Amino acid sequence: MEMPGELGRVLVIIPTYNERDNIERITGRVREAVPSVDVLIVDDASPDGTGEVADAMAGEDPQIAVLHRQGKDGLGPAYIAGFRWAAERGYDVMVEMDADGSHQPEELPRLLSALEDADLVIGARWVPGGRVENWPRRREALSRGANTYARLMLGIPLHDATGGYRAFRAATLEKIGLDEVDSRGYCFQIDLALRALREGLRVVEIPITFVERVHGTSKMSRDVMAEAAMRITQWGMTDRVEKFRGPR
Ligand code: GDD
Ligand code: MN
Repeated sequence: MEMPGELGRVLVIIPTYNERDNIERITGRVREAVPSVDVLIVDDASPDGTGEVADAMAGEDPQIAVLHRQGKDGLGPAYIAGFRWAAERGYDVMVEMDADGSHQPEELPRLLSALEDADLVIGARWVPGGRVENWPRRREALSRGANTYARLMLGIPLHDATGGYRAFRAATLEKIGLDEVDSRGYCFQIDLALRALREGLRVVEIPITFVERVHGTSKMSRDVMAEAAMRITQWGMTDRVEKFRGPR
């Protein structure tokens, strides 16, 4: 499928930490699914040598680039570095995609089509038509729970605010203003969605099939969970206090 056109230049940003056994396959699938898009791999000095594998790919294909960072610093800072890299080079659309195959490149044309009438498109699991393959029960419960809590606490109309398969217009990221975003782990995703909604931007969820990784391990941790729980609560409370105080 040949795509973009109206949307302009698209960059798929893939953050990596120890994804040596995944990075070639995912990049190849992206290049095949939508040949016109470019790919940026943002690697946090993975000890398993993912960065070297990425460099080798970039050496072979001018549509692949690599951004090397000093060490593991969380998903949020990796994406922000990628977004800045893209903005400096004039990309019109920035896509977030995991390296492990959970976000299927073959579904990218659907995300991009939806972006024609939206400012941010989220590939969602917990909407009708959305699915998850091979996730342990415990992990599904955690994700559903976090999303329900975020929806209620923040009063946002989203069902998968933590979802990490997304397409942003460059203008959306500009409006959000990345300088103030300091979420590190997966709550970075909620943070950006919330900021987009508060700017009055059009945030649209479309169903995806999320496929659990086969190679490597998840970087979800107790710290990542604690940060998300704390921040959602904090954002929700601040919002309530401000509403109570009324307009200034
Ligand atoms: N550069 C960099 N630095 N990349 C990272 C870091 C980091 O500190 N932490 C994670 N990543 C990369 C992984 O290498 C992978 O490509 C992607 O970010 C997602 O990490 P996973 O560890 O595979 O996430 P998950 O499968 O547990 O979580 C999924 O669900 C989350 C909650 O809904 C992902 O889709 C997340 O994006 C989503 O927020
Ligand atoms: Mn994963």
